[in-house]
Amino acid sequence: MNIEIREQLYEGKAKQVFLTSDPEIVMVHYKDDATAGDGAKKGTIRDKGVVNNKLSNALMQKLEREGIPTHYVEELNDRDTLVKKVDIVPLEVIIRNVAAGSFSKRMGVPEGTEFKRPTIEFSYKNDDLHDPFINSYYALALDLATQEEIDTIVEMAFKINDILKDILLKANIRLIDFKLEFGRLPDGKIVLADEISPDTCRFWDATTGAHLDKDLFRRDLGGEEDAYQEVMRRLL
Ligand code: TMP
Ligand code: ASP
Repeated sequence: MNIEIREQLYEGKAKQVFLTSDPEIVMVHYKDDATAGDGAKKGTIRDKGVVNNKLSNALMQKLEREGIPTHYVEELNDRDTLVKKVDIVPLEVIIRNVAAGSFSKRMGVPEGTEFKRPTIEFSYKNDDLHDPFINSYYALALDLATQEEIDTIVEMAFKINDILKDILLKANIRLIDFKLEFGRLPDGKIVLADEISPDTCRFWDATTGAHLDKDLFRRDLGGEEDAYQEVMRRLL
């Protein structure tokens, strides 16, 4: 693709986004920077940007082949990828298969408890408010999304869960939970955006239960660099 990279549009905690000569396409650059607890803990995970870029792209391509529309366009190099420019729906969409993290805290259910069926929840994407937990009525009241968009997002998120669970289990990884973000294309179509990576998913080794994700960093357990490499090695 013959595209020129232009000025930075946005910088987030883990990625930068650049405009390009094509108004419908932006370039995402994945950094090694890691934060936890709303930026309270800051650090870097060596080559995390490479792992997250390659892994997220590979998973999005697999999802596309299963009929899930995504923002993915083309991987340019180890850390840079062209994606469709979207208007991000300001919801963090979290699917859980097994109790962990904030669910375990909030509900008093021990980590590792398998659910009868998967759950979905929304947070309002707003750093100043620390991404508060909301329901679809809040989202509608605040005009964060339409009912039709929410229905599409919920259906896509559960389908993505089924596909990802399968892919991961073949690599002996249990998909505990994960966070998705969706975007609107100029014509209003909803597509999967952001990333799918050890930053945004909980991956446990299916045999040993070892954490293979950002919880190693969040909880100061150590070994996150090796774990990210291990996930990439198993999946790519
Ligand atoms: P939680 O148990 O802390 O609510 O996290 C649920 C999932 O969402 C977990 O896989 C990690 C992911 N996540 C993010 O991607 N970004 C975040 O800011 C948080 C808090 C969680
Ligand atoms: N989004 C969180 C933060 O900004 C990081 C996380 O827990 O994944 O610190």
